[in-house]
Amino acid sequence: MKSKASAPGKVILFGEHFVVYGIKSILCSINKRVTVTAEKTNERKISINSEIGTLVLDPDESITKINSPLKPFYYLANKALKDQNEGLKIQIESEIPLGAGLGSSSACCVAGAAAIFKVFGEISKEKILELAIEAEKTIYQNTSGADCTVSTYGGLMEYDKNNGFRKIEDEPNFQLIIVNSNIKHSTETMVSKVKEFENKNKEKFHELSNLESKLVNDVLKLIKENKIEEIGEKLNLNQKFLEEIGISNEQLETMIKIGQKSSYGAKITGSGGGGCIFALTNNSNLEYTLKEFTNKEYECFAAKIDFKGLNTF
Ligand code: MEV
Repeated sequence: MKSKASAPGKVILFGEHFVVYGIKSILCSINKRVTVTAEKTNERKISINSEIGTLVLDPDESITKINSPLKPFYYLANKALKDQNEGLKIQIESEIPLGAGLGSSSACCVAGAAAIFKVFGEISKEKILELAIEAEKTIYQNTSGADCTVSTYGGLMEYDKNNGFRKIEDEPNFQLIIVNSNIKHSTETMVSKVKEFENKNKEKFHELSNLESKLVNDVLKLIKENKIEEIGEKLNLNQKFLEEIGISNEQLETMIKIGQKSSYGAKITGSGGGGCIFALTNNSNLEYTLKEFTNKEYECFAAKIDFKGLNTF
């Protein structure tokens, strides 16, 4: 028995980090995917293979002893197998740059949960999301759940930790230019860094959270009205808040300036410190913005909204 699933990466348009503290965010899944194939084997082994390496383990190995980015797959496979006398072979293929703030690990968890559990029978999207978040927590304990949620349901959505998600049905006419700094970063480290900032600057953080919350509500109205220029201005403002909480740096800001000059607006996406930034464009400035980055030899690509979310075959 073989099963296959794919799930998209994401961009956090507005609200990263603040979402960890319960503020509403706006998420967007992108047309770059992770595909996972899972197959039952007679040998009682869990074997996971991807372009970043291979992990072969006996089931029931203690999860705390595993030191590999492939750990979430092991967690899911072990849970799916329970005490059955069989094994699982898992193959991962990804179009999403790794560790770049584009939700590659969450897309792995979502596509992984779907492919692995479907080997054993039907499973709902709600349950897949629950399992994906559990798996994500094996590598990053404090996740807000935002990335796995948008990867499961796709499209554009507002999301907060306490109320979950609400799909934004409007289909704004924009494309994103995503630019990779190629600076490695860890979400866990960056989230801890913001926690430190919050501890030392309670009042300032509270003030910024209120501003972020207002900004997100304003943007929700602007999306309805398809006011791309104003949405761009809000991106630039959100970038300022991210700089204030200490997740930006000089290299990222050099990239952001190029984006802000050539498109409607630009900011970091995800946890910051490295990873990616994005610029907001439409047909009128997409090619120009892309050229501005490629001329300076940045690794970049244009991305559209993915409306499908999790797909199973
Ligand atoms: C990471 O893509 C987004 C953060 O807000 C963390 C989270 O939501 O768990 C930085």
